[in-house]
Amino acid sequence: MAALMLICLLGGAHSSYGASLLKLSPDCESDSKTQRRHAAHFTFQPDPVPTQYGPTQKMNLFQSITSALDNTLANDPTAVIFGEDVAFGGVFRCTVGLRDKYGKDRVFNTPLCEQGIVGFGIGVACAGATAIAEIQFADYIYPAFDQIVNEAAKYRYRSGNLFDCGNLTIRAPWGCVGHGSLYHSQSPEAFFVHCPGVKVVIPRSPVQAKGLLLSCIADNNPCIFFEPKIMYRAAVEQVPLEPYIIPLSQAEILQEGSDVTLVAWGTQIHVMKEVADMAQEKLGVSCEVIDLQTILPWDVETVCKSVVKTGRLLISHEAPITGGFAGEISSTVQEECFLNLEAPISRVCGYDTPFPHIFEPFYIPDKWKCFDAIKRMINF
Ligand SMILES: *[C@@H]1O[C@H](CO)[C@@H](O)[C@H](O)[C@H]1NC(C)=O
Repeated sequence: MAALMLICLLGGAHSSYGASLLKLSPDCESDSKTQRRHAAHFTFQPDPVPTQYGPTQKMNLFQSITSALDNTLANDPTAVIFGEDVAFGGVFRCTVGLRDKYGKDRVFNTPLCEQGIVGFGIGVACAGATAIAEIQFADYIYPAFDQIVNEAAKYRYRSGNLFDCGNLTIRAPWGCVGHGSLYHSQSPEAFFVHCPGVKVVIPRSPVQAKGLLLSCIADNNPCIFFEPKIMYRAAVEQVPLEPYIIPLSQAEILQEGSDVTLVAWGTQIHVMKEVADMAQEKLGVSCEVIDLQTILPWDVETVCKSVVKTGRLLISHEAPITGGFAGEISSTVQEECFLNLEAPISRVCGYDTPFPHIFEPFYIPDKWKCFDAIKRMINF
């Protein structure tokens, strides 16, 4: 069952070995059905081609991750990549070709044991190497929770700065995928932002993913890098071949506006961009769209400045609303930003249920729900 699910997630007919297995599962009998489901919830719009980092190449999200890892292995002789199935390229193909290029001592498989993967990564990083661990799905990161929050996050503090595992980066596919259900669609960032000592980063696009991942790898703190899996193939941009850094803890204003601030990250940013267009077109409402990019530690200043200007804030994420990071943003803005709000801060998030399978289209915070929230704020 897990294997079949995986083949569906891979895009089925795209993968060479997936086509025959695909027919066995009624859920993914045709590729076009998968595509239709993907197309229903957002449209990926590429960013302008970056010119400042040299020549670019057309890459999707998983290829831009490969490119970042390739740069790291080439430039840092201590860098190693490990996880379940990474040696053959990983289930999402993020490490394709790297074992052949850099050898089996630097790109290697681990046993199916997330706790062991992160524990090993902590040791490797403390011993002076650059450790890049892959957890096959963010939904399966929980066996490693203790290693991350009790060991990786606290190592520097615990040793009085004698040791640290700041050169550990943990990558994991994240978020909804159209049909991933309870074990392949979760967004667990809120569990980790409660833990000082780790950084949590979620990119929205191939160009941004490469720069942010290289930042995470270079950063002197353990970093969790969640990759929106729905975009691995669907998102394509011109990505620079050379390494470049996009700074952590800086939000990006993607679109300026004066009436409502929209804050999101990862896949949801693309929903917000469509919502901003709808609000302009149907209501004449001008939205400012902010991609948080780094969830911990997050860029309070950029969000505050924007909400001071607009007086309205909508935060949206796929994860369940209760205990989700939107709540943290909402209270911080109210406490720290010294503002007169035009309307109560609004959250449009997942429901407090496991991630459903066939009801996924009703579960996700889609553009219609976000649009309704904007209408309510404007008419408040
Ligand atoms: C982490 O990597 C940096 C840059 O390569 C290096 O200077 C530092 O010593 C490393 N940290 C540890 C604990 O090995």
